Amino acid sequence: VLDRDVILERYMRVRALTAALVAPLSAEDMAVQSMPEASPVKWHLAHTTWFFEEFVLRGWRDERWRVLFNSYYEGAGPRHARAGRGLLSRPSLDEVRSWRSSVDDRMHPYIQRAPPSELACVLLGTHHEQQHQELILTDVLHAFSFNELKPAYVEAPPRRDVPIPTKRWCAFDETIARIGHAGDGFAFDNETPQHRVLVGAFSLASSLVTNREYADFIADRGYQRPELWLSDGWAMVQREGWTAPIYWDGDRAFTLYGLQPRDPNAPVTHVSFYEADAYARWAAARLPTEQEWERAAEAGGLSQMFDEAWQWTASAHLPYPRFRPLEGVLGEYNGKFMSGQMVLRGGSRLSPPDHVRATYRNFFPPFARWQMTGIRLARD
Ligand SMILES: [Fe+2]
Repeated sequence: VLDRDVILERYMRVRALTAALVAPLSAEDMAVQSMPEASPVKWHLAHTTWFFEEFVLRGWRDERWRVLFNSYYEGAGPRHARAGRGLLSRPSLDEVRSWRSSVDDRMHPYIQRAPPSELACVLLGTHHEQQHQELILTDVLHAFSFNELKPAYVEAPPRRDVPIPTKRWCAFDETIARIGHAGDGFAFDNETPQHRVLVGAFSLASSLVTNREYADFIADRGYQRPELWLSDGWAMVQREGWTAPIYWDGDRAFTLYGLQPRDPNAPVTHVSFYEADAYARWAAARLPTEQEWERAAEAGGLSQMFDEAWQWTASAHLPYPRFRPLEGVLGEYNGKFMSGQMVLRGGSRLSPPDHVRATYRNFFPPFARWQMTGIRLARD
């Protein structure tokens, strides 16, 4: 049963956090689109508002905006091409902001009066907006990385010494594990239904691969040895000239705090699935399956599971047995992305803390590296 006071509080909190996240950015910052996969911040602000108009309120300020800010929902009609989002100088940022507040003004009474069956869609909209909060930060980082000024999104906090994680192998016995979401809390449709899976014995590293460890892989000619790479990954290394994680620059790395000395003990981030997989092979280990990861998360005892970097798994984003997407247009949310995507588990420094959970299945194409992605090793 969904509690409307809880949902209203959550709605207001999430919307306010989005506004706070973009506060350090100028209107020009928010107009840039650095690549087809990334979106201008202004578009994120509008699209997360579009979601509530399209799926909840359905009272359009301007019917044509439906087309501009529909992301990928075929069932919601035509849409502006993703790669051309940076061309949308109109509506202005001010107009998008005033649209956001007018939708908020309409959502408050709606949430107070809506039939309980429709509150689920509001809740989904808040989780959707939290996904875009992380995308806003990763897309800003990507856009800023092309600027020779190496801008900082915010000033770096005082440097804290990251303790060297004491890496252990945590062993798990063979078991029939319950995988996936069940019960009352929120989950996306792709986390359901819960089902049983035979998970063989395995070990999982207690912490993530560090920058220092990844630098050893590079020094050992990791990017020059085809035997370490999947064929598609090796082709990508050749084509794109990859020699290090995307934001490495000598012994520094480009971050939301600008160009910063790279902390050798911090987890390596912004690596693709291909790089994670090649690193694991070099380290005589492998990536965990998503079932192994979830079993370990439920058991507890491991560190850096949710708060540093999303962890690539060896699992393709496929439907769980007897999966049924949400009814109607929202069935497109996850269900149609079950080809060519790898599952990431956990959460990152950029994820809203009340957004992630042990059953969460994030997914990206194997070549993606502009997200806050890292590596946790497993072995048989
Ligand atoms: Fe979206």
